[in-house]
Amino acid sequence: MSNLSVISGKPSESLAKSLAKRIKANLVKSEIRIFPDGESKITITGKLSKKKSIIVQSIYPPVDTNLLHALSLISKAKEISSQVIAVIPYMGYARQDREFLPGEIITMKVLGKLFAAAGASKIIVVDIHSQIGLKYFSIKTKNVSAVPDLVAYFKKMSLKNPIVISPDQGGKNRAKEFALKFDSEYIALKKNRDRKTGKVKIKTKNIDKVSGRDVILVDDMISTGGSIIKATQFLKKQKCNRVYVACTHALLMNNAEERIKKSGVTRIVSANTIPNKTSLVDVSKTIAKAII
Ligand code: R5P
Repeated sequence: MSNLSVISGKPSESLAKSLAKRIKANLVKSEIRIFPDGESKITITGKLSKKKSIIVQSIYPPVDTNLLHALSLISKAKEISSQVIAVIPYMGYARQDREFLPGEIITMKVLGKLFAAAGASKIIVVDIHSQIGLKYFSIKTKNVSAVPDLVAYFKKMSLKNPIVISPDQGGKNRAKEFALKFDSEYIALKKNRDRKTGKVKIKTKNIDKVSGRDVILVDDMISTGGSIIKATQFLKKQKCNRVYVACTHALLMNNAEERIKKSGVTRIVSANTIPNKTSLVDVSKTIAKAII
């Protein structure tokens, strides 16, 4: 048996399989049974290495359930392996990293304590919404970028004079990184989100640079699709050509894919941190580099 085990949580089975293959680890699956009252019974269905176990589990909806499952897998692995690494490709709650309105709980602070208490000695995440959230962890943390993998995908496409655009100022550095690797220009739009209603508005006035050009909208995540839809409607008014979306985590809540396509987006390309129809880019190699 390899002295390295990869435990695949249900939400990340295919990514865990690719990762185990790359790092030559023994793949151990987990099984979930949900009782009528909503409680989960989680079972690990194989033998774990005494040396090192790596849990792979994204925390996407149902977020709280998947979070508890990830912590449970870590806790079980720690009973057997002396070192436990948590690979959380999509880190739910990452946007709750500060007190935006008085009284709000910084859930990332709570998660920092929970991951350490469960037994993880290191956590690896992919394109976490903001690095601030990782400051609350006392264990080692590593955030890896899916941008090089997304760029490799877009390089294979033939686009018309492409320009990279971030829907907001918060994503400026990500767009810059994408544009540098893609060898194109980039712009970050100004976006405003109402903290109470969640409604999004694009504040940027006219830009002439996009006229007749293909656009790649780069974002860390799509949740409701509001940011991408508003940005696309704005860019279409600026007479851009086709709009593509490159994002790491495509949650695509409430029929977001359909609504985004309706707004004029030609294709959404996301990473396999969240498995779905748009997750065309594999990040297992990038995660493997952070483990070895
Ligand atoms: C916001 O700052 C993030 O980078 C994303 O743009 C945002 O979370 C996406 O959410 P939604 O799809 O609901 O607009």
